[in-house]
Amino acid sequence: MKLFFVLALALHLYVTHTAAFNYKEVLQKSLLFYEAQRSGKLPADQRVKWRHDSALNDKGNHGEDLTGGYYDAGDWVKFGFQMSFTATILAWGLIDHKKGYEAAGSLEEGRKALKWATDYFLKAHVSENVMYAQVGSCSLDHDYWGRPEDMTEARPAFMINTTHPGSDMAAETAAALAASYMVFKEVDATYANTLLTHAKQLYNFAYKYRGKYSDAFSDVRGCYNSSGYEDELVWGAAWLYRATGDKTYLTYAEKEYTPIQYYIGFSWDQKAGGADVLLAKITKDSKYLTKMKNYCDQIMNSQQRTPKGLIFISQWGSLSNTAYVMQICLETAALGVNTAKYQAEAKKQINYMLGDTGYSYLVGFGSKYPTHCHHRAASCPDAPAKCDWTQYSTTSPNPQVLTGALVGGPGANDDYTDVRSDYVHNEVDTVYNAGFQGVLATLIELGYSD
Ligand SMILES: *[C@@H]1O[C@H](CO)[C@@H](O)[C@H](O)[C@H]1NC(C)=O
Ligand SMILES: *[C@@H]1O[C@H](CO)[C@@H](O)[C@H](O)[C@H]1NC(C)=O
Repeated sequence: MKLFFVLALALHLYVTHTAAFNYKEVLQKSLLFYEAQRSGKLPADQRVKWRHDSALNDKGNHGEDLTGGYYDAGDWVKFGFQMSFTATILAWGLIDHKKGYEAAGSLEEGRKALKWATDYFLKAHVSENVMYAQVGSCSLDHDYWGRPEDMTEARPAFMINTTHPGSDMAAETAAALAASYMVFKEVDATYANTLLTHAKQLYNFAYKYRGKYSDAFSDVRGCYNSSGYEDELVWGAAWLYRATGDKTYLTYAEKEYTPIQYYIGFSWDQKAGGADVLLAKITKDSKYLTKMKNYCDQIMNSQQRTPKGLIFISQWGSLSNTAYVMQICLETAALGVNTAKYQAEAKKQINYMLGDTGYSYLVGFGSKYPTHCHHRAASCPDAPAKCDWTQYSTTSPNPQVLTGALVGGPGANDDYTDVRSDYVHNEVDTVYNAGFQGVLATLIELGYSD
């Protein structure tokens, strides 16, 4: 009898260890990371208590209120292009994998995470053809190490307009707002309709006044130079078509499709893969689905892998890049293409991130995880203790646990060192978590969570 129990327990441990992780807990934690990245006045229900109100003077050139929104990563710039892509991806998960969010008890928190961004976009889009694309300066911000609550450096606001357009930025925000309309229409129809109005205006602005946002103003070039806007025009049109059913947007998507180039990933700069799978889903046109099948087959069968099995796409943010690719391949799988294979691979890749190699790359999850992630606020002791570059250089662990943040991740040989200075492998980012969270919601919905 005793032996039977021991064997049963061993089998149970074996199965639960290899079968899955508690993806629901991971999703809940990922949402906490978004709370830690909030800028502006924090609400009463803020759960990450070591963060406080900050950047309450963020303004446009004519005094417009630009408080709120998200700090991008381990720094304190509000990069609009990153924020809008993050919002589009969060909204995508909330629309198509709402069941996953519900099963994790996180639907409400997921919507709040999205609304923190959409409320900000409504402020930043000050008139039909004018949008503030960034608050805070790439170079000035990076000279500062410390809490956002204590910042004193100038926080200039940068805009796109008809003489200095940014079709990538405007079309991505249009995508974010169109997708968010779909999330909020069942909760608050008035708010949702406002989002949709802004989405349509922003898309027209993007379509009519062509240019790259990083050509419109120079500050962002050292941080997030855009490679082109054609992919965002397709992606934005696809979302607007999905949200409205208005065929004009499908015509736009098809018209702009030809010049877009196919890059390896699906990322803040490259939207082609996401647009393909979205168009495949809403048009049922096999040309898009065939492209996705070829793409995912190539990724799963031939893409470089680390010795321990991570599909490796790039040094910088390796885990996030893989998660994004898994996300679009899971959407492809849901359309009936190599379903079991793609789902199994996505699960394997996520499990690598969560601890299959004995180390979890998600802060605050599992028994061994990064304690020195590159994040200014997490590296600071509780206020009012001083926090500056000394804190950056110390080898002690971060005094604050930045729960739920996915770090950049290992290099091509599974090489990774948990040091604060290594922003390539050990920084966190609102964009990183978005695709990752979408995959989690999908896996939960599929019933894979422990
Ligand atoms: C248009 O945007 C550019 C780039 O951000 C800016 O330099 C210029 O002042 C803006 N024009 C107006 C009229 O605000
Ligand atoms: C940004 O892209 C432009 C092309 O649009 C290029 O000329 C410039 O060198 C790039 N800047 C940086 C810092 O990469």
